[in-house]
Amino acid sequence: MLSLIYLIGSVTFIVGLKMLSNPASARKGNAIAAGGMTLAILGTIFLYRNHGEGLHNYGWIMAGLLIGGVIGLVSAKRVKMTAMPEMVSLFNGMGGACAALISVVEFEHMIDPIFRESAPVRMQLVIIFAGMIIGAVSFAGSVIAWGKLNGSIRDVSFRGQHIFNLLILAVILLLAVIVTAMLPPATVVLFVVVLLLSLLYGVCFVLPIGGADMPVVISLLNSFTGVAAACGGFLYNNPVMLTGGILVGSAGTILTILMCKAMNRSLRNVLIGSFGGPKAASANKEQGAYKEISLSDTAVIMAYAQKVMIVPGYGLAVAQAQHACHELETLLEARGVEVRYAIHPVAGRMPGHMNVLLAEADVSYEKLLEMEQANGQFNTTDVVLVLGANDVVNPAAKNDPASPIYGMPILEVENARSVIVNKRSMKPGYAGIENDLFFQPKTSMLFGDAKHVIQQLVAEIVNS
Ligand code: TAP
Repeated sequence: MLSLIYLIGSVTFIVGLKMLSNPASARKGNAIAAGGMTLAILGTIFLYRNHGEGLHNYGWIMAGLLIGGVIGLVSAKRVKMTAMPEMVSLFNGMGGACAALISVVEFEHMIDPIFRESAPVRMQLVIIFAGMIIGAVSFAGSVIAWGKLNGSIRDVSFRGQHIFNLLILAVILLLAVIVTAMLPPATVVLFVVVLLLSLLYGVCFVLPIGGADMPVVISLLNSFTGVAAACGGFLYNNPVMLTGGILVGSAGTILTILMCKAMNRSLRNVLIGSFGGPKAASANKEQGAYKEISLSDTAVIMAYAQKVMIVPGYGLAVAQAQHACHELETLLEARGVEVRYAIHPVAGRMPGHMNVLLAEADVSYEKLLEMEQANGQFNTTDVVLVLGANDVVNPAAKNDPASPIYGMPILEVENARSVIVNKRSMKPGYAGIENDLFFQPKTSMLFGDAKHVIQQLVAEIVNS
């Protein structure tokens, strides 16, 4: 019965993950995988038997489930969309901590001579170490990433930091080999040293990485947690834990690679590049003058256009302007204007950020164009309305080899007949660099908070 439950659980993870790749089915996919996980947990609690004996400590288990479940539910309900990466980071860290704790508990079992005789000890130790080191690194790194995202931890780097980090890693691996060769109980202290050094490594690994690169780091740490959980699956011979861990590990790795590709940066550059720091800012050069446009002129231009393309960015999420944006779209479409959204793969601060925001406002999925599709349509577009986006429309990525974003694929909005950019000031975006687009003759700036501006725009169009 339990094996069947594990099989069902594993299948729901795979089906759920597959469904997550389409916005229309993502919510259902998430629910299916969560249902499978609930089934696997309940099955383990009530049906697991070891030599005919079930689990003990039901009180502790239920209390843990209840406390963890309530904290998870309340924080997921309350979290703001822009703070989602922070929460993902913290939850991921908890997964890493669990995997490391499993290894600590299993190591403790090895101190018992009866257990040592009954199991292939050295093989078990290799898995215990893998789970503990990777899990502890993921936990400590995720907590630092969380602190960086909410602004309580600064980027810290010093000369030779990467060599220092490599040295810690080398000592961790050396000690793990020694403990595996000498076997417990003589090596308990060394085991604790490996645990502490792994936590230190997690901190030192994430501290120097630029705060703005945290989404990529979180995705990488997420894949670490998956691998650490899969080690737990090996230890307990538990197929559902193994499948879940492997899926998280591989999905996290693929997502990390996709994000790096969409920014045209290598993972190495993300990990040691300190992107958006002082070096990027010094790449700024003097720009010419920009021109402003009034709300009423914007309303007229948009209301009489045939085709409008909206480019959402991080600022749209900050302003929580998705509902106002949908209202503008409906109003324009009612007047016969064709409205589409151009979605850059790394617009915003996390994968799929814009898709989730717009879905929340009931924008139809068919209206969302991926970057390649959108780029093919800008030359037939009358007006592009850029809402709180900056780097993802910066032509320097194509024309300026000295720019830190050179080579990053961008939305080629300058191919449209006219471009209206809404943001609050002339301040740069995430990469910390000027945007040539704002100074081009086709471009007009419409300053103000995105939500406020769109609401006024809607009022202008209604009254026109
Ligand atoms: P950004 O380049 O960061 O630009 C956002 C702009 O929004 C800012 O220039 C800001 O200008 C404006 N803004 C902020 N609050 C606003 C508000 N309330 N109303 C109107 N405008 C507002 O954003 P983007 O174009 O979406 O690009 C995303 C960046 O994040 C890329 O460089 C990407 O590589 C990076 N990144 C993304 C991800 C993922 S997965 N999405 C992962 C890692 C890195 P003002 O301050 O003047 O208003």
